[in-house]
Amino acid sequence: MDRCDTQSLTATDQDLDQAAMLLQAGKLVAFPTETVYGLGADATNGEAVAAIYAAKGRPQFNPLISHVATLEMAERLAEFNDTARALVQKFWPGPLTLILPKTAHCPVSELACAGLDTIAIRCPDHSLALGLIARADRPIAAPSANPSGGISPTSAAHVRDGLNGQIEAILDGGPCDFGVESTILDLTRAPTLLRPGGLTSETLEAVLGTPLQNPPKSDKITAPGQTASHYAPNTKLILNQTTCPTNALWLGFGPMPKNTNGLTLSQTSNLKEAAANLFAHLRKLDAQAASKNIKTIAAAPIPNTGLGLAINDRLTRAAAPKTNSFF
Ligand code: TXA
Ligand code: MG
Repeated sequence: MDRCDTQSLTATDQDLDQAAMLLQAGKLVAFPTETVYGLGADATNGEAVAAIYAAKGRPQFNPLISHVATLEMAERLAEFNDTARALVQKFWPGPLTLILPKTAHCPVSELACAGLDTIAIRCPDHSLALGLIARADRPIAAPSANPSGGISPTSAAHVRDGLNGQIEAILDGGPCDFGVESTILDLTRAPTLLRPGGLTSETLEAVLGTPLQNPPKSDKITAPGQTASHYAPNTKLILNQTTCPTNALWLGFGPMPKNTNGLTLSQTSNLKEAAANLFAHLRKLDAQAASKNIKTIAAAPIPNTGLGLAINDRLTRAAAPKTNSFF
């Protein structure tokens, strides 16, 4: 793939116009959302979408989320039912991705939907993301802005670490608020949780009035986020440790134990803070392990409620063996 100079853009009107123009010209622009940084391309331009897969080294049959700025834009892409409308009214903009049937004249490229007759749509709760999509005036396909299988980026610097020279620009909006990806809910059947994320299952269930379904085991894997190994550091990660083994780095939840090297996700055991720190801490510990020749990162147990579900999901995939991780 051709290398390019990756521009740094900031939150000025001029830079937003520039970023939108690049997207309209079929270029790749990384941008901040409330969850993680996305690697954006014009979702209606098949070649631009193909460039996303090439830059990430991502298997082509994994579909992408189309990001929209308004419900009106979303309704041109997907058939909304009453449940979808109710959820959108309550939770958009926000970290909720809906899987819905595509409209008959959906302009999103087949490649972005990986040939499926359904589409993933989300309206991010971030002023720069919304400003960019509105200016580009088209849906923006965007996976997390990291090489496939790596740790998702929660800052512009993380994006540059992984994709410098391979994308046209990075729009810097500072660190992401949530730090874990959006919750993915399939509404083409009884509401089914495809990926736990920034919006908790408890919150969704309270509005739906029914428990969320889990996808049947027989479902073919459509999501890289659903493969066993994903979001992975290079250093071996072990989970649910109550003490830090010798010669390991500690990824804690709660106060740091004495005489232990590492980081805590939240000094006060706050799940929101832990989610926001998760990927950045994994990156820091991975770099520290490499420089000190340490072979293991040991993670403390995280409660499996609320945002803890998304954190444990990501940690489990980060800890899974990396054999053949992408099919
Ligand atoms: O928070 C997020 O969702 C971030 C930011 C950038 O918006 N994006 C993100 O995208 O996490 P990505 O590509 O890393 O994950 C999108 C997930 C994948 O697991 C994909 O397989 C799934 O959405 N997906 C997309 N279209 C789908 C469809 N039609 N049916 C089922 N799953 C789908
Ligand atoms: Mg991802």
